Formats: sequence, C-alpha cells, structure tokens
Amino acid sequence: MASLIPKSTIEEIRNSINIVDVIGKDVDLKKKGKYFWGICPFVSENSPSFTVDEENQRYKCYSCGRSGNVFDYVSEKKGLSFPQAVIEVARNVGIKIDSKYTENTGGHFNENELKLIELNKQASEIFTHLLLNTDLSTNALKYLLEERHLSRETIADFQLGFLPSQWSLHDFFEEKKIPVETQLESGIISQYDDGSFHDVFSNRIMFPLKDSYGNIVGFSGRTLDKNNSAKYINSKETAVFKKSKLLYHFDVAKQAAKVSQKLLLLEGYLDVIAAHKAGIDYGIASMGTSLTKDQLQLISRNTPKLTIAYDGDSAGQSATWRAIEEIKNFPHLQLEIVTIPNQKDPDEYLQQNGPGALKKIFEEDSTSINDFAFEYLKKGRNLENVGNLSDYTNDLLNFLNEHPDPIANDLTLKKLSDQFGLSRSVLDQSLKRNDIDVSKRQVRQSSRQNDNP
Ligand code: GTP
Ligand code: MN
Repeated sequence: MASLIPKSTIEEIRNSINIVDVIGKDVDLKKKGKYFWGICPFVSENSPSFTVDEENQRYKCYSCGRSGNVFDYVSEKKGLSFPQAVIEVARNVGIKIDSKYTENTGGHFNENELKLIELNKQASEIFTHLLLNTDLSTNALKYLLEERHLSRETIADFQLGFLPSQWSLHDFFEEKKIPVETQLESGIISQYDDGSFHDVFSNRIMFPLKDSYGNIVGFSGRTLDKNNSAKYINSKETAVFKKSKLLYHFDVAKQAAKVSQKLLLLEGYLDVIAAHKAGIDYGIASMGTSLTKDQLQLISRNTPKLTIAYDGDSAGQSATWRAIEEIKNFPHLQLEIVTIPNQKDPDEYLQQNGPGALKKIFEEDSTSINDFAFEYLKKGRNLENVGNLSDYTNDLLNFLNEHPDPIANDLTLKKLSDQFGLSRSVLDQSLKRNDIDVSKRQVRQSSRQNDNP
C-alpha cells in the first residue's frame, strides 16, 4: 500500500493553484458579488446554481448540494479518488510527489501487480489473435459473427478473444519466460494435484475485464457448449482483480458520460456490446452480481444520472428492484428505468428490431422509479381482491415514503387513486401514517442496534 500524501504537500499544492482557474476550464464562470457563478458541471440545469468562492478556495452547488475544495472538485469531475486527484492537480502545477505516495492509487501499481497486469495484457492480445487469425477458432468466430452478429471491428474494439482447447496458454507463458508463480497468481492457469498445469478458460470466448483506467485486470470466459452449466466463468480474485469494485466497460463509459451526462447499467457484457452497436458507449455492466456500494460510488462520482436497463424477464426486473433499493443510499444519483419489451435482453431486442430501435428505447422509453414500483409491486397480486389491493397500496406507500420526491409522489398518488378508485384524501392520510410507521420502525431498529454490545 502507498503511504498517505503528507498534509504539508497537499497544502503546498493547494496554495499553488487557484480553484477559479481549474473550474473555469469546465464552467463558464461570472463574478457576481463575493462569488463566481456558473452552470453546475455535475447536473443539468438552466440557470446557474454553482458557485466558486475564490477567497476560501471552495465550490458549492445550490442545486445538487456538492461542495468542496479543488481536490474534491477534480475527484468528483474525473471520477478519481482523493489521492489520485491530488496527484492530478500536482502534475498540472508541476509539483513532483514522491513515488512512495503515488503507488497503488490507480494506474499506479506495485511491482507484483504490474506483472499481473502485463501478463493479462499479453494473454488478451494472444486471445484476440487466436480468435481472429487462426483456424483453431473457426467455431468461436463463426458463433460471434453469425449467431451474435458482431463484426470483426466490434470484436477488435472490445478485444474479445478465444482460447482454443488445442492450444496451451501455459506453454505460451513458459516461452515468454513468465514465472510460474505469476502464472498461477493470475488465475488464468491452475495446477492439478499431480503438478500438471491447465488453462482455466480453455475453449471459452474471452472478455477482458478492465479497471477504470483501461488496465486489464481479469477475464470472463463464455463457453460455447450449450450444455455447460457454467455459461461464464471469471478470473479468481487476485491482487488486481476485485470483482465487486469493477464495472465492465467503465473505462470507456466514464468518458462517454461526460457528454451523455448519464451511464446505462446493463446485465450482460453482450448487452453492453449491443448498446455500442446502437451507438451508445455509456453502457456498463457488473460481473453478473448485484450492484455493490463500491460500484455505485464509481458510478455516482462520474455521472449525475443512471439508467438501469436490465433484462425484461422477471429475474431482470427483480434485480432492478434490488438495485433501486441499494441506490437509496446515493440520493444525488438520479435514477430512471428502461424495461426491455417482451422479456428480452438488450442484445436479443437488437437482433430482432435493429440498432435504431434499441437506441430509441434506451434514450426515450425510460420511466421513473415510481412508475416502475407502481407496476412491479402488482406482480403476483390479484388486485380485484380487497386484501391484495390493500397490501399493494401499503407497499407502494412505503416505497413513496422511502423515496420522498413531492411532485413525483403526488403524481403517483393521483394515478393510484384514479386507477383503483381509491379516495385521494385517504391515501394522503395513509401516506402520513405510513411515514410515522417507517420512522418508528427506524427508531426501533436503531435502538436495537444500540442495544447490541
Ligand atoms: P449471453 O447468452 O452470452 O448473451 O449472455 P447474457 O449476456 O444474456 O448473460 P445472462 O443474461 O445469462 O447473464 C448476464 C451476466 O451474468 C453475464 O454477462 C455474466 O456477467 C453473468 N453470468 C451469466 N451466467 C453466469 C455464470 O454461469 N457464472 C457467472 N459467474 N456469471 C454468469
Ligand atoms: Mn443475452
């Protein structure tokens, strides 16, 4: 691990730069009174709510609430951690930071980690070469070109590859004089009890997995065998591969999000590639797991808005519900939901309806989380039955309480009252009562937690 950058160095950097100049590169700032004012670079707005206080070298947005010093700004704007932001600003003012502080801050790896990254890079290059240029991969290439309708160009853009079963990656690494320990540590090669080596991803289509800076830190491999129960397997966790902190395609998507001002969260790698075919490069995916706090932090540091477009089947819709629940802890992140019609995933939808249609549903057919909850909570309930309708209404009111957005919630209550002939004033009262119930529950919960020794 790197040591912490000393406070005195941080102060020195802060004193050699003016926050107005830094932010002025991104935002058109006008001085009015004590502050400079401009359009907030983090949310879309029409009138300036974003202020820069030159005297105290701080910024604050009265619309989204973000505030901080120059390092917070750079960190927020570029999706960097605090130390990375310090290093970035230092570079701009020509102050050199001792390398012992810059190791491990992202893009800066220790020697061992660099070896793993270098190995992954070599492996990825050979996988792509094997897929595109050798007879050993005829079936895999045919599958990608003809069944998945990818072009060679898209395959190259995403650095997809193949590891033929007749080929030995272990032999290749041996020839390259990569130490056996590094091979094993990478998780791409493993060793049997009898001491022999084997390629973990043999006979799989390879998807390189990258960190936010585009370093290949691991792989996911898709089988071509319909009977194989492990459709995808991932690299094991290594010093550089931490599945819960990564998002597929994030290195590209975070750049695209500077223009789109949003990220599009999809379920599968091939859905991200489908979005790319539809002209959308701000698509990302987790590695087949629920969204983690670390992933949400990455997302919220890089965009004001997230669109979730998981598969249209019931598993995808339940995953969407869980994601909405998790995102409650990130109130700055605006959320919208796209439901792919007919229980499809984005890739299937694209195969059937073409890239234009997919682009349209991503860009134009999103709904609010309230509308999603309104439909989602109906599932499995017969709303002609009074008991069911009452449970449904209570669940929905609970949801509204947990997502306090006065205007959106007012519209949802109106819809609820219209659709089921419920009295609006009763709903309003129940919402308030529900509110008390929720806070009571929270008090109870927190006192229970406090009781714990
Ligand atoms: P394709 O059939 O290749 O289009 O897969 P998909 O993109 O439709 O994947 P699916 O909806 O089946 O799963 C979504 C994501 O979950 C995949 O991209 C993987 O990240 C992950 N996933 C799917 N199957 C497995 C599995 O068997 N093991 C693991 N570890 N992850 C999986
Ligand atoms: Mn799919």
